[in-house]
Amino acid sequence: MASQNTPLVIAPSILSADFACLGTEVQAVLKAGADWIHFDVMDNHFVPNLTIGPLVCEAIRPHVHKDGHLAMIDVHLMIEPVERIIPDFAKAGANLISFHPEASKDVAKTLQLIRANGCQAGLVLNPATPIEVLSSYLELVDLVLLMSVNPGFGGQAFIPSTLEKIKQVRQLLDIHYTQTGQEIRLEVDGGIKVDNIGAIAAAGANTFVAGSAIFGQANYAEIITTMRSECAQALGQT
Ligand code: DX5
Ligand code: ZN
Repeated sequence: MASQNTPLVIAPSILSADFACLGTEVQAVLKAGADWIHFDVMDNHFVPNLTIGPLVCEAIRPHVHKDGHLAMIDVHLMIEPVERIIPDFAKAGANLISFHPEASKDVAKTLQLIRANGCQAGLVLNPATPIEVLSSYLELVDLVLLMSVNPGFGGQAFIPSTLEKIKQVRQLLDIHYTQTGQEIRLEVDGGIKVDNIGAIAAAGANTFVAGSAIFGQANYAEIITTMRSECAQALGQT
């Protein structure tokens, strides 16, 4: 399966970090073994919460380094409309920008706009959004993000039916890979913990967002290492 050849990515969501010292928090979590920084943008309209925007992205950019290289800032837009703010996030140092199809009048055009601004593009499906939405857009996306909670807040419980959805999207992406050679990452966001990350990996995800499970702990390295070994075990790589 294509999913098993792709290096796994752990992307802590800074929604659960200490906002009074975000620079130190992102440095610490990358040093502890995280790969990307997941950046949740909420507008109190598309979702019932209000968070951070391009100014904060720009402020953390110099701190998002790993082993002497820039690490990815993975921006998850939960806002409507999305188009106007995309160039601002690209200028602020975002590397990957994902949005929900419900928030765009022209999904293909928005995906193209993200790529035209030099970023990778992602499409996000809410728990209730059917996977059929993806089929018209696959060649325009670098990542599919499946929500395993209803977006808006950190610390919610993983919705178990997401596992079946991950398997279905994995199949779709593997068929697409066989037909086109284009590899698309499969990311899951919401309620990921040490005790369910193995099942999520086994279902076919290769990119894992975790907020409260990591930033809620005293020792980030310990939790990230345990998450990786749970994945390796579930994928039979130990
Ligand atoms: C939810 C956000 C998630 C969230 C994950 O709307 O998109 O990224 O912060 O947090 P946990 O891991 O605590 O569910
Ligand atoms: Zn998110």
